[in-house]
Amino acid sequence: MTRKTSASTHAAALTGKRAEFSAALLGWYRVNARRLPWRETPSLYRTVVSEFMLQQTQVKTVLPYFARWHDALPDFAALAAAPEAQVLKLWEGLGYYSRARNLHRLARAIAALPAAPRTPAEWQELPGVGPYTAAAITSISFGAPAACVDGNVVRILARLTADATEYRDSATAAKAFKPLADALLSTSAAGDHNQAMMELGATICSRQNPLCLTCPVRAFCAASARGEPEAYPRLAPKKIEHVAVTRIWCEREGALLLHRAAADARRLAGQHELPTAAQFGLTETAATRGLLLATHKRGITRFLITESIHTAVPPRGKLAPGLIWVPRAELTSITLSGPHRRWITEILRRS
Ligand code: ADE
Repeated sequence: MTRKTSASTHAAALTGKRAEFSAALLGWYRVNARRLPWRETPSLYRTVVSEFMLQQTQVKTVLPYFARWHDALPDFAALAAAPEAQVLKLWEGLGYYSRARNLHRLARAIAALPAAPRTPAEWQELPGVGPYTAAAITSISFGAPAACVDGNVVRILARLTADATEYRDSATAAKAFKPLADALLSTSAAGDHNQAMMELGATICSRQNPLCLTCPVRAFCAASARGEPEAYPRLAPKKIEHVAVTRIWCEREGALLLHRAAADARRLAGQHELPTAAQFGLTETAATRGLLLATHKRGITRFLITESIHTAVPPRGKLAPGLIWVPRAELTSITLSGPHRRWITEILRRS
């Protein structure tokens, strides 16, 4: 038997035991689910906000943001009426800011409708809602029979079936596993089933050191039976690209020079950052002649970015577009992207 056939054989066997699989998964979830605010007192609004915040972000990071957000903007109407600056400020530090702007636009769209849509296809028409989020929202809020497939679910399904296919990336794998995910979905408890899969991926079936001994569906798992759960899923190695960015630290009379992204910029709309050399009006070579204050590395998708912050003397004459002087006392009230707030705080503490 080829390895591929063996994975599809496992998938067929697993689908045949769907009822037993579901009972084991749901039984475990109902006892072990983490008590999360959007689960304790669920509502469509809480589900939507939590799903947007949880895109690319872990539960423990989301919790304080969710609490602050919900206190300030408790329902779709409040969010729809809120100014964008407030929405971005509440999101500050969570990253991927297009999520906040899309959530804001979505609330305005929902507030204008006589009733919220109930199907995944309708939700996918709304800003920022892809197949995963549409399935999560409609299964949790309305019991729609739509399976969620993200990296966590791919990992679980690849292990259950010991699928040795090398997938190009996580999105390709998600598409390939969607039929199996749908076939396994408990249609009478679709929301809990989806959340149970997410919970299993986050707490038991982790990328490294999965806790197979406490796994509720271990009896169904081909990878665990082979003693090699960590070998799955197989994803082609990412091609990492190195990028260097020079940023400028320029102070004058207690104010710091920052760059404010245009309100309609695709990334970082309305947010402040330390200006790059180009935004400041210097070449990279000229900028690196200034004193080096800090160097930071960070990974964003497949880019490994090294950012060096150099001092520069205040520009003479009119400021380049987007540059503004922000008095130190106002730094807390403006929206700064998360890493920039950390870097600025650290440099100011030293000075
Ligand atoms: N990740 C995405 N959606 C989630 C949810 N509803 N609960 C926990 N983790 C999640």
